[in-house]
Amino acid sequence: MYSTINTDKTFIDNNHGVVMVHQMIKKGDQIMLWSPKSVELIKVDGKTKRVHGLGVVDTGKFVGRSFGSKVNLGRDVYHLVKPSLRYAPEFMKRGPQIVQPMMASVIIHECDIGCGHRVVEGGAGSGMLSTALLRAVGTQGKLYTYELEEEHLRIARKNVESLDLQESWIPRIGDVTKDVEEVGVDAFVVDIPQPWDALHMAKKALNAGGAFLAYVPTVNQVERTYNHLIDRNFIDIQCSEVFQRNMLVTEGGVRPSFDSLGHNGYAVRGTKSEE
Ligand SMILES: C[S@@+](CC[C@H](N)C(=O)[O-])C[C@H]1O[C@@H](n2cnc3c(N)ncnc32)[C@H](O)[C@@H]1O
Repeated sequence: MYSTINTDKTFIDNNHGVVMVHQMIKKGDQIMLWSPKSVELIKVDGKTKRVHGLGVVDTGKFVGRSFGSKVNLGRDVYHLVKPSLRYAPEFMKRGPQIVQPMMASVIIHECDIGCGHRVVEGGAGSGMLSTALLRAVGTQGKLYTYELEEEHLRIARKNVESLDLQESWIPRIGDVTKDVEEVGVDAFVVDIPQPWDALHMAKKALNAGGAFLAYVPTVNQVERTYNHLIDRNFIDIQCSEVFQRNMLVTEGGVRPSFDSLGHNGYAVRGTKSEE
């Protein structure tokens, strides 16, 4: 037995209880052209466009194809897949230094951010963390992002819009240490040089039980943020450093990748207590 819903095909196998969904690409979708060698983000608007390293691509040919399907472009085989934030550093416009996708996922986890939550963010930068937070809060939530520099917010907006995530986003030019208007928010996340200066705003904006998190590159900032969290009676304070080490898997030769672990920065989190 199977049913077809709009452009998405759902097959229900009664014998095995397996449900397979083949979601079809529609005009207006953002997709990734993925190959083991390169990744390109493009909008399927039905027009032809020049894609870096691939030449001219007719996006009209992708309409009605299934996500995950293969296409031959030039001499290479690509897959048409949904845009993944794992690849965001490769396709996003770059301004200020971004939070890496793995760190963004830890930030979301450390603050228990989920669908429908209201979150304040300080420092849009290039918008990498904004896109991850927007994915997490979904269309029922809201992300209020404060940024001092118009140019940075312009880059962040381009990146947020390239992933169609603008619906829940309220970007503001302003200082997250002074100008935050929201109250009753679930989380308050900053990636700015002096996160401790934002703590009085975080205390005003957060629900009791809500999380504050600062992403910082140096140990000195970790210590100072930690001490200010103690002074302001935050509880459940935790500082962490996160690494991701990929594995190379070949037959008879499975080992860690040679890529250096590098330096990612630290997360310092605390929970607002009821006074
Ligand atoms: C390192 S970047 C943020 C990068 C961002 N998290 C990302 O993943 O793309 C820091 C940003 O914070 C902004 N900034 C610094 N102090 C700020 C403040 N007090 N209020 C708002 N934005 C601030 C800077 O202009 C800069 O764009």
